[in-house]
Amino acid sequence: RPLRDTRSLRDYIRTIVDFPKEGILFRDVTTLFADARGFRMAVDQLLTPYAGLAIDKVVGLEARGFILGGAVAHQLSVGFVPIRKKGKLPGSVISEAYALEYGEAVMEIHDDALKSGERVLIVDDLLATGGTAAAGIRLCERLGAGVVGCAFVIDLPDLGGRALLEGMGYDVHALTA
Ligand code: PRP
Ligand code: ADE
Repeated sequence: RPLRDTRSLRDYIRTIVDFPKEGILFRDVTTLFADARGFRMAVDQLLTPYAGLAIDKVVGLEARGFILGGAVAHQLSVGFVPIRKKGKLPGSVISEAYALEYGEAVMEIHDDALKSGERVLIVDDLLATGGTAAAGIRLCERLGAGVVGCAFVIDLPDLGGRALLEGMGYDVHALTA
């Protein structure tokens, strides 16, 4: 081990071949989350562009967006709102269907989780096709909230998510490709 730790964020992320389907290179952030220095770097870098902005809520996308978004919300001293896969939230919800790199799914948010005019930061671990984030944006906006930014640890630009979100006018912040 060198005297000074020079590992960058991407050194903590592991790639698993053919998960969950053949042909997918799965970016595994559990190795990043498990390391104290790596996790702190990720959370600090995610929130840096937004620290001076008025953010009312952090919205985290299931499942790894909960881990990062919870830490970001704590650091910004704002509340956290989960967007979950269909059937998990106990209260009254609104839903959005979306396509994934490897399938399709439905996301939900409690219909009273955001107030009209609130400014939200959306957090997730990874941006691929952008389908998940776009569904999250739609859910926030259907409740009248404004999306200040979308922050991800990993961007897979070949899958088009950044182009999709930026093309719709949203701020995209990603830490590594
Ligand atoms: C992954 C990732 C993002 C999403 C990105 O989650 O954590 O949420 O895919 O893909 P997209 O940009 O193509 O929409 P996954 O759907 O695997 O769900 P999980 O976090 O609940 O395992
Ligand atoms: N979500 C969509 N594509 C992914 C990938 N390649 N690795 C991890 N999560 C993903």
